[in-house]
Amino acid sequence: MKGIILAGGAGTRLYPITISVSKQLLPIYDKPLVYYPLSMLMLARIREVLLISTPDDIDDYKKLLGDGSRIGMRIEYKIQEKPRGLADAFILGEEFIGDDSVCLVLGDNVFYGAAMSAILRQAMDSIKDGGASIFGCFMKDPREFGVVEFDENKKVISIEEKPQKPKSNYAIPGLYFYDNNVVEIAKNVVPSARGEIEISSINNAYLEKGQLNVTLMGRGVSWFDTGSPKGMHKASGFVKTIQEMQGFYISCIEEIAWRKKFIDDAQLKKCGEELKMTEYGRYLLSLPAQEEDQ
Ligand code: DAU
Repeated sequence: MKGIILAGGAGTRLYPITISVSKQLLPIYDKPLVYYPLSMLMLARIREVLLISTPDDIDDYKKLLGDGSRIGMRIEYKIQEKPRGLADAFILGEEFIGDDSVCLVLGDNVFYGAAMSAILRQAMDSIKDGGASIFGCFMKDPREFGVVEFDENKKVISIEEKPQKPKSNYAIPGLYFYDNNVVEIAKNVVPSARGEIEISSINNAYLEKGQLNVTLMGRGVSWFDTGSPKGMHKASGFVKTIQEMQGFYISCIEEIAWRKKFIDDAQLKKCGEELKMTEYGRYLLSLPAQEEDQ
């Protein structure tokens, strides 16, 4: 399976912060926002990733993540000239995806939960023989999101993008698993009233074929959409609190690479040495000893 991170867009909801800086490079507490979605792909053991961003910002991502070899990944880059919509990821990514299945994660979504690896593995397994797998998260007010509609037997009957009157409280987070048909489906998506080729149209296409799995994430998972200053602040506060209380870092890409054995002890040490002027770097250097203590 391949992974795509969509890290473009205009970021206008965060102006003036994002006038000169890409939104997904802004900090969520102690690390760039893009580390969080990248770490989801890593937890799913997806090691080939395409990062899509704007002509202005793409070089900043290359500077941050390089070819990915530092963390045992292979990262490629693609420019999206205009923010045409989320479905564009599969059109721009056609060559990269090849004959594979694909996981799309939005560059501004933050997830955390002990069960995350298992949830991701389950979603991957569920599309082994084709289809799509997405998630639903309970939200008091889901109007800003894709929303799932269920019938009385909890069967999914529709997906609506940013409905004025949501038919449930389950918003769809920016983490999607698809079989290879997604490329052709994306090419046929008709732009919505706001002029975008919507991910919800893709999900509805799978739903119509009876091939859409929707898993409700439940209490064990925290999901943050960082589309507003408040959302970013909330996510930062959460990461700070959990890290300080538990002593474990959230979405530390070098740690995940090491725990998943994408890199060895020597490479972890090298990463830690490069950053040892910060708590982040010292945390990396402390990991092997912490592991021995447990
Ligand atoms: O966060 C989850 C929600 O993301 C879903 O519930 C919605 O169904 C989905 O449409 C999307 O809604 P948003 O309004 O939050 O999407 P936004 O336009 O903010 O874009 C999400 C990310 O993708 C953001 O990091 C910018 C990036 N993006 C967006 C567009 C439209 C691109 O890189 N290219 C694009 O063309």
